[in-house]
Amino acid sequence: MSNPSLLILPGDGIGPEVMAEVRKIIDWYGAKRDLAFDVSEDLVGGAAYDKHGTPLHDDTMAKAQTVDAVLLGAVGGPKYDNLDFSVKPERGLLRLRKEMDLFANLRPAQCFDALADFSSLKKDVVAGLDIMIVRELTSGIYFGEPRGIIEEGNERVGINTQRYTESEIDRVARSAFELAMKRGKKLCSMEKANVMESGILWREVVTEVGKEYPEVELSHMYADAGAMQLCRWPKQFDVIVTDNLFGDLLSDAAAMLTGSLGMLPSASLGQPMENGRPKALYEPVHGSAPDIAGQGKANPIACILSFAMALRYSFDMGEEADRLEKAVEQVLADGKRTADLLGEEGVTPVSTSEMGDAVVAALDASL
Ligand code: NAD
Ligand code: IPM
Ligand code: MN
Repeated sequence: MSNPSLLILPGDGIGPEVMAEVRKIIDWYGAKRDLAFDVSEDLVGGAAYDKHGTPLHDDTMAKAQTVDAVLLGAVGGPKYDNLDFSVKPERGLLRLRKEMDLFANLRPAQCFDALADFSSLKKDVVAGLDIMIVRELTSGIYFGEPRGIIEEGNERVGINTQRYTESEIDRVARSAFELAMKRGKKLCSMEKANVMESGILWREVVTEVGKEYPEVELSHMYADAGAMQLCRWPKQFDVIVTDNLFGDLLSDAAAMLTGSLGMLPSASLGQPMENGRPKALYEPVHGSAPDIAGQGKANPIACILSFAMALRYSFDMGEEADRLEKAVEQVLADGKRTADLLGEEGVTPVSTSEMGDAVVAALDASL
């Protein structure tokens, strides 16, 4: 059988810096676990715009459709802020999500014991936290029509449309219930059924799907109250399912429960391919962090843990994913901290590459 194939799209800003550390991990699996991947690399975002005048070349899009999994760093940056909307770096990422039909975006927020002091919340609120946000990723206000900026009377109007079909809600709800079955059997669905028709439909469809999962305790919350509850007592949640925009906001908020945005990985999953593996893209939740790009300060853990999610969800290598997650946990327990995780006195930060090397050393020690 041929090796599993990976397309790596480092992107912009700290994207290439954190992806270089993931390459070390991939190499380690090839050398030490006999798990060789066929890796190819290409451009996305501003880097692709600089070379091709588009944030995602058609050839790259086509390649993404054929590989077993895509790993993406981050896109965007101030250099591209004034580009026409249609060629902005973020459009490249949105095209990948849409055309690969990656409707279920899994964003776990786990607080490692060693970092319980780093959250801006009290330690007992976050210690042991392990929640999973399932964000719908290919529809909603990100893609709904009509959209645009139009002239109306003597002024301009900016328009975006929140739109969800029953089948779009149904499939992401199913993904969330399936995950809940493998975890704590609790699912909280968040929308704003009090003010949005799409929220009313969302609640109805999720409730209907829930009848097929009687073991899962289903609850509903308005998304604004959900944001408040995430900060008040996040451990009440197991799995949260929500729409594209609310999921974007809630997952950034959840990131801070874990200590840093630099800690949060994600998996974006679609329909099964012919080989049975889901279409998949893995990326950290954070962006290109222009304020620290090029300085060797970025925390590579979110990107490394995204590769762990690839091992688990694309390659059915749960034990190897556990090994990598434990290696990260060990490095943190040993006191290694990138600058975003500082807070204790007398601790000198490690660089991006030192953090990657430390994870590789912990992997070695796991053998
Ligand atoms: P950001 O996530 O890039 O940065 C927010 C803050 O978190 C910054 O202070 C940054 O230094 C810090 N940070 C983020 N990741 C970090 C890491 N790994 N290690 C240490 N610190 C880290 O968000 P932003 O500043 O709002 O956006 C910057 C650019 O990134 C924008 O162009 C935005 O559109 C883009 N963006 C891309 C993605 C993506 O590619 N998936 C996600 C979010 C934002
Ligand atoms: C994310 C980002 C993206 C989003 C942007 C860069 C398109 O914020 O992945 O969370 O809004 O989905
Ligand atoms: Mn976001």
